[in-house]
Amino acid sequence: MANPSVALGQTSWHGAGAAEFDLRSDTMTKPTPSMLNAICQTTLLDDVFNEDPTTNELQSYVAQRTQHEDALLVLSGTMGNQVAIRSHLTQPPYAVLCDHRAHIICYEAGGVSLWTGATVQTVVPKNGIHLTLEDVKKYAVLDDNIHHCPTKLISLENTLDGMVMPLAEARRIVEWAHANDIKVHLDGARLWEAVVSGAGSLSDYTSLFDSVSLCFSKGLGAPIGSILVGSKELIKKARWFRKSIGGGTRQSGVFASAARVAIDETFGTDSHGKTGQLFGTHEKAKRIGEMWTSRGGKLQYPVHTNMVWLDLEASGVGPNDMATIGEELGLKLLGGRIVVHYQVSDEAISRLERVFDTAMKGDFQRSEDQSKPYGSSKP
Ligand SMILES: Cc1ncc(COP(=O)(O)O)c(C=O)c1O
Repeated sequence: MANPSVALGQTSWHGAGAAEFDLRSDTMTKPTPSMLNAICQTTLLDDVFNEDPTTNELQSYVAQRTQHEDALLVLSGTMGNQVAIRSHLTQPPYAVLCDHRAHIICYEAGGVSLWTGATVQTVVPKNGIHLTLEDVKKYAVLDDNIHHCPTKLISLENTLDGMVMPLAEARRIVEWAHANDIKVHLDGARLWEAVVSGAGSLSDYTSLFDSVSLCFSKGLGAPIGSILVGSKELIKKARWFRKSIGGGTRQSGVFASAARVAIDETFGTDSHGKTGQLFGTHEKAKRIGEMWTSRGGKLQYPVHTNMVWLDLEASGVGPNDMATIGEELGLKLLGGRIVVHYQVSDEAISRLERVFDTAMKGDFQRSEDQSKPYGSSKP
């Protein structure tokens, strides 16, 4: 039999590859040789029949690390969120409350209304960074006035646009919600980043919520997959809804195996993510933020984790300028959002410094297309 590691060396997607110069998103991370090796050695049984050991072990492992009863591997963060939201809601009328910038409402193709018919109560956080209990209380509907639509689910997101919701605030919101018979879901696609920033341990956060969806294919670098954690009852329902939208997969060991490597090697085996590859990326993001402000640029948000939001308009730069200048230097950029992942190299950051110089001097041919790309504008 051929040695898998020999074959892996020949694949064009081996190692970081072009990901080192791609700062559009942490979804651009490439699977590592150890992920590809794990795929070669995985079990290949059927997950619709719950028979695949690699998938089952991954689910038990994540359930245990997040202090939940059960877990369900899903194909994407969107699938994790939508299946969770669908599983929490039972009898209309019901409403879902979330931050106005939440991924579930801005970037999931209208899934909440499509799958649940829920009214969505979007809230603009007063502090501009994250929701607080005061924001939630102001907009949640608790009464039984028949004109109103009662809030039955709060969906939080952490990190949101790279910013951290502090553990104490998350706890206040969840305790108040539970006291008022409201479930709370966490879109924790990038909760790993909040943990690595020192905001709390993985289980400090995850154990608070009725469900949490965590992504493997963003900063963690796996090719596919997210996982939903919750009670046995919720996950049983979620498995059903996952099937109804075509998310029941057969030889899921192929992506479960890479996801396990992503947790252990990229996030780390300790509960604060200090032993993995993510640790260190936030320093690079802070450095990029300083590179921008030291040239007179303005930031739209503070840099808490791996995202740097340049305020292009306030800095006199067009929405597509960064992408245009970046292309000249072999860097992939999108609007004003710069995302650092652990495969971004120091060479990429020096090139970015040159992009910033050029953008601030206005010394380049501006692209005709000045429509705002995804990621450059706030909804
Ligand atoms: C906060 C957040 N939640 C969910 C998702 C959805 O993940 P996916 O692209 O895997 O569907 C994303 C994707 O970028 C995200 O940023």
